[in-house]
Amino acid sequence: MGTLTVTMTDVDGETRTFEGIEEGISLMEVGRQNGVAGIMGDCGGGCACATCHVYVDENWQEKVGAPDDIEFAMLDMVADVMKDNSRLGCQIRMSFELDGLQVTVAPASSY
Ligand code: FES
Repeated sequence: MGTLTVTMTDVDGETRTFEGIEEGISLMEVGRQNGVAGIMGDCGGGCACATCHVYVDENWQEKVGAPDDIEFAMLDMVADVMKDNSRLGCQIRMSFELDGLQVTVAPASSY
């Protein structure tokens, strides 16, 4: 079984590519493990804090898909920075379909 690659641009504008990512790990965990600025994951992946908010690269939006109702409601609370391509990183599980995924960490919310 191979591993996956993700490219993340942090809140400071620094872009890094991470390799060797295991299938099934969340995007939030990838960010936390690698110290990506702006990915806090305060609630531990429970879809309850939005400190893992990312913007999905437009080329990947279709594959990643849209947030479900609960995730959308959480994102809606940070509406000042919510965009069409907003997702919570903890709700995106890495899979071979998403190998090469590119995201940008959203600025900290002000709620
Ligand atoms: S880690 Fe809290 S919503 Fe994703």
